[in-house]
Amino acid sequence: ASHDLWGGRYAEGPSAIMREINASIGFDRKMWRQDISGSLAHAAMLKHVGIISAEDEASIRQGLADIAEEIDSGRFVFSDALEDIHMNIEARLTERIGEAGKRLHTARSRNDQVALDVRLWTRDAIDGLDRQIADVMRALVARAAEHAGTVMPGFTHLQPAQPTTFGHHLLAYVEMLSRDRGRLADCRKRLNESPLGSAALCGTGFPIDRHMTAAALGFDGPMRNSLDAVASRDFAAEFLFACAMCVTHLSRLAEEVVIWTNPYFGFVKLSDAFTTGSSIMPQKRNPDAAELVRGKTGRVFGALVGMLTVLKGLALTYGKDMQEDKEGIFDSAETLALCLAATGGMIRDMQPQPERMQVAAGAGFSTATDLADWLVRELKFPFRDAHHVTGRLVAMAEAAGVDLAGLSLAQMQQVEPRISQGVFDVLTVDASVRSRTSFGGTAPANVARMAAEWQEKLG
Ligand code: ARG
Repeated sequence: ASHDLWGGRYAEGPSAIMREINASIGFDRKMWRQDISGSLAHAAMLKHVGIISAEDEASIRQGLADIAEEIDSGRFVFSDALEDIHMNIEARLTERIGEAGKRLHTARSRNDQVALDVRLWTRDAIDGLDRQIADVMRALVARAAEHAGTVMPGFTHLQPAQPTTFGHHLLAYVEMLSRDRGRLADCRKRLNESPLGSAALCGTGFPIDRHMTAAALGFDGPMRNSLDAVASRDFAAEFLFACAMCVTHLSRLAEEVVIWTNPYFGFVKLSDAFTTGSSIMPQKRNPDAAELVRGKTGRVFGALVGMLTVLKGLALTYGKDMQEDKEGIFDSAETLALCLAATGGMIRDMQPQPERMQVAAGAGFSTATDLADWLVRELKFPFRDAHHVTGRLVAMAEAAGVDLAGLSLAQMQQVEPRISQGVFDVLTVDASVRSRTSFGGTAPANVARMAAEWQEKLG
């Protein structure tokens, strides 16, 4: 025949180029376990409702187990001519068990089959990523607990703003990553409905039991509309967004690691294990892992935009365009997994430099807000007026080449005569961080409590 699977209607085979553009086996072979799980559930159901015999189901089950073994051990021969993982496995099954293999595709199409496989693959990926994110969170929390009281500069606009602590800073990322887990969990919940049994697009006249296959595959139930089931990939776009958001958080942290390790900052040293040298400059110690985490965001964003673009003009139901969903999903899941592993490693290994951070925290008049707050508290200034007076004191200190605490009381009193000696108590970075006890604030006691809470939650 001109073609093993649809030779009935065809006189000639496809051109080489047709084969090349059509084949997805080069990447969708990753879904072989999912494809076999789906076929096992489908065959068990076909037997249960009396569409195939018990003997056929038994030999399908044995045949698929043998094929799993072949693939796992690298002996399976994948064929481009058979396009994709679904047809590769089905063809091999028939080769191995004959007639019964040809009955497996009853009441099923590759359209519901592929929708099923991608959902199952994505669900597994979500479970793996969730564990990895939790692991990075644990690493951050451990460092945060050590450094709950390590003062560092807090920035806005990357300019000195107010003193904070290194622990508080790290816990900010823990919160972000926790929301990333939440997004993946939401995505998992929404994708956890089975498309299997929707067949090509309209369902089937065979008395199949979609609830049975859905339950067997760990879904909450079957999808309610067969057209939607084969046409929709919003779960894929949602997954890619969750990946894109998470890798964005890792990228922001990576950018900070790059800044912190710059010797002008010197807040953190990375281990040998997570830096590289230069082939020409012997002194070099480059934060490549962090740079790559930052750099790899691009491909994940690309996959998200790619997926949305594939879907936006696609009339219902299935279009071959949708074959383009998989590489982006696979690559994004694997890229995020690698970025999480690298981030966890860097965080565990890094050596914070508290003395450097402490000195930097006091630079740039970072306790100016504390001074303004003092005027409000002690002299009952309206905050706007306090801001103005403090601004004049900053200008005075800057002109004198000192920090705020370097002004004498007499100098301060030239700007505001009611200022008293007590003001100097609020001008140190330690007093500043200690004072910020509002819920979610930077005070070391707060940070230590939050770190303990996270430790408890993450186990
Ligand atoms: N390889 C295809 C994909 O990834 C499987 C579905 C093909 N369906 C079809 N009617 N040609 O989407």
